[in-house]
Amino acid sequence: MPPVISHTRDLPDDVELVAVPVTVEQGEAEGLEVLGLPAAALAAQGFVGKADQLAVVPSVDGGATLVAVGLGPADQVGPDRLRRAAAQVVRGARRVGSVALPLLDVVEGTASEKAAAARAVAEGAGLGAYRYTELRSDPGPSGPESVVVVGRGGARVAAAVEEGARIAEAQNLARELVNTPGGTLTPAALAEVAVDVAHREDLGVTVLGPAEIAERGLGGLLGVNRGSLQEPRFVELVYEPANPRGTLALVGKGITFDSGGLSIKTGEGMMTMKMDMGGAAAVIGFFSAVRAVSPRCRVLGYVPMTDNMSGGDATRPGDVLTIRNGTTVEVLNTDAEGRLILADALSIASEAEPDAIVDLATLTGAVEIALGSRIAGLLGNDDGWRDQVADAAARAGERVWSLPLPADYRPYLDSDVADLRNISKGRGAGTITAGLFLKEFVGEGIPWAHLDIAGTAWWTEGEQAEFSVGGTGFGVRTLLELARGFTRPKRTR
Ligand code: BES
Ligand code: MN
Ligand code: ZN
Repeated sequence: MPPVISHTRDLPDDVELVAVPVTVEQGEAEGLEVLGLPAAALAAQGFVGKADQLAVVPSVDGGATLVAVGLGPADQVGPDRLRRAAAQVVRGARRVGSVALPLLDVVEGTASEKAAAARAVAEGAGLGAYRYTELRSDPGPSGPESVVVVGRGGARVAAAVEEGARIAEAQNLARELVNTPGGTLTPAALAEVAVDVAHREDLGVTVLGPAEIAERGLGGLLGVNRGSLQEPRFVELVYEPANPRGTLALVGKGITFDSGGLSIKTGEGMMTMKMDMGGAAAVIGFFSAVRAVSPRCRVLGYVPMTDNMSGGDATRPGDVLTIRNGTTVEVLNTDAEGRLILADALSIASEAEPDAIVDLATLTGAVEIALGSRIAGLLGNDDGWRDQVADAAARAGERVWSLPLPADYRPYLDSDVADLRNISKGRGAGTITAGLFLKEFVGEGIPWAHLDIAGTAWWTEGEQAEFSVGGTGFGVRTLLELARGFTRPKRTR
């Protein structure tokens, strides 16, 4: 069970473990003593309050265990540092029943800065508590039952803690979905999760099966599904506030397993391909916490779901698919399947005439080559809207970096037989040409941004603060922050 995360003004006296935040300025001997920490013992461990340092001070005569948490330079302590510190403490407290995180009073600042800090600490606590244990016969120690975030600030801070806890839960749901094997989390099973979320959160939901998908002409989704024994799904979600200020559409790639199809991947290349629904997981995770944030805009979700298999009637290289909007696509590589299902989803999303669209997709291995596993690629057709997404990501503590969509790369997608080919005939720029492909399916004049999360949706570097091996839930926090602050972009095109 995940910990109950709550707020108190003062440090409770019955917790088993208390975090003691230490900046580098406080990290020398005198400062440590002022904080009530044993300076000599910490010095012996090399603890000086640097960011990411952690030192345990065992309890004496039945008191709480103290954990000194390094925060680095005081002027760099903000939500990102605090989220990470909270996650580190909670992740390390696997065998402890209750944890107190008195990290808030480190932050001087406005009421809204204090609230942002409180939210980040609660997020870190929730994220640090997560591990994927579903399939283990012995899941090991379960971690704390309760985490209290301690600090002054009253009702606003208490609400921020509550909200942070719900956001972490949403991100952990996305992680759990990504971690669930592709043979278990079939398209039908993933659609069921979306329906459960919709019912729990009182959202509108529609699930299309194979017949309705064919009826609506979603030829990209059908083409990718053709090699599979699993039925495809197309899920639409709707959050409708009173008097909505604009409409935001979210699209998530839901490939529940990517074998590459007939353009088959290597054994090594498919080992992690259960993660190829990370975009779908982010969108579903977003909707699971949308009422914690209560955006003023309407939010529409579009999630195409299938696996990409190589069965006897699989789409063959050279086959031509007709996408929902009438565009014909020559499939020259069946492993470039994400863009085919997103083409249908972006077309459908555009028909609703939203004020803006964001899609999230584990789309290209190239984005991990360019930006690694901690920074997502951000592309789009409208600078103002792309900036709005980048700002939301920065506030949420998720890292993104922009790549261009140069018009003179578009001819790399010209087909000899159809309107488009699904892989570039040029060398390099795989993330960009994938983005240029998607752009073709966004309705005229609609601001659109694309997050390529192929590098960031999956973590391999062991247990580290908010991260654990497997799904990261990347994108959930950015989407919640984006919807919270949504302002209709001006139509520039
Ligand atoms: N799902 C993959 C992208 C991917 C690769 C995600 C590695 C995470 C880690 C996508 O469907 C894919 O196979 N893309 C191809 C595109 C190519 C055939 C143009 C790729 O990146 O190699
Ligand atoms: Mn693929
Ligand atoms: Zn894929």
